[in-house]
Amino acid sequence: MRSKRNKTIDFSLEEASPELLEQILQPIKNIRGTRDKIINGDSFKVMKKLSPHQVSLALIDPPYNLNKQYDGLNFKKMTTEEYQEYTQKWINLLKPLLKDNASVYVFSDWATSISLAPVLAQNFTIQNRITWQREKGRGSQKNWKNGMEDIWFLTVDPNKYTFNVDRVKQRRQVVAPYKKDGVAKDWQATSTGNFRDTMPSNFWDDISIPYWSMPENTGHPTQKPEKLLAKIILASSNPGDFIFDPFAGSGSSLVTAAKLNRHYLGIEQSLLYCAWGQYRLNQVKNDQTIQGYTDGVFWERNTLAAQRKVMRHKN
Ligand SMILES: C[S@@+](CC[C@H](N)C(=O)[O-])C[C@H]1O[C@@H](n2cnc3c(N)ncnc32)[C@H](O)[C@@H]1O
Repeated sequence: MRSKRNKTIDFSLEEASPELLEQILQPIKNIRGTRDKIINGDSFKVMKKLSPHQVSLALIDPPYNLNKQYDGLNFKKMTTEEYQEYTQKWINLLKPLLKDNASVYVFSDWATSISLAPVLAQNFTIQNRITWQREKGRGSQKNWKNGMEDIWFLTVDPNKYTFNVDRVKQRRQVVAPYKKDGVAKDWQATSTGNFRDTMPSNFWDDISIPYWSMPENTGHPTQKPEKLLAKIILASSNPGDFIFDPFAGSGSSLVTAAKLNRHYLGIEQSLLYCAWGQYRLNQVKNDQTIQGYTDGVFWERNTLAAQRKVMRHKN
């Protein structure tokens, strides 16, 4: 029997309410002006129909170059050349949709990055490569366990792009609080502990993969955490901007965009994943919290009690 604390969204299409499916399946009258929606379809077909020059931020979490099942649809590992062609194909469809000052983030594992990076470099300015230390990973007898992912930060223009560094500060516990003349240096003493709000680096070790007791968790095999997407969205877009995700999966980027008052559009080939995404989107009006992002800053792992205490004090 499933534990009461297990919040995983993993209902089947048969269990989904007709209203929920109707939200996804209702015919789209004006696809060019469509916003705040998940489209169930093939991105390579749908992207051709969208309006140009509207996207401020594209979040691209494509199938990595691995054998993977997505709701019964098989993605087969390709040769390097084939994967590069596949990447160039979605980039060609994405580019016309982007604004001149747009940013693009592409997720990848280290092996896929070897094929991916040269194609990204040919098409965009690579601003950075973020390492996400994601902890969970399958152990191996003959190799090092994979505990990280790459996130490529790209821009259309090398200089003109949004980057709100003050909105993505990291709140860290101060282990050795230093005082000069009795005054705290760069940190705050609070009733919940001593903290410093630090500048965010390109090494992200504060974000867990969604797990069963988290309300955002779904049955999707490669779901990204809302906290991770929130960092990107807050840094690289402004409220009201338009965010696009052509491989939307369980809708994590769309849900996070909605919580942060951005417009969004996602495309996903699996109706089941669209249904999980739409279910999550319908909950946003009741719950806009993003686990790990509290009081306008990002917190380290396992600090929920301290976060709650801070919010209690504020309220
Ligand atoms: C790596 S997963 C994305 C997971 C997503 N970021 C999340 O948090 O749930 C890639 C997704 O792309 C979808 N996909 C693959 N090819 C597609 C295509 N041509 N059109 C639309 N969706 C596609 C897969 O079904 C899968 O859900």
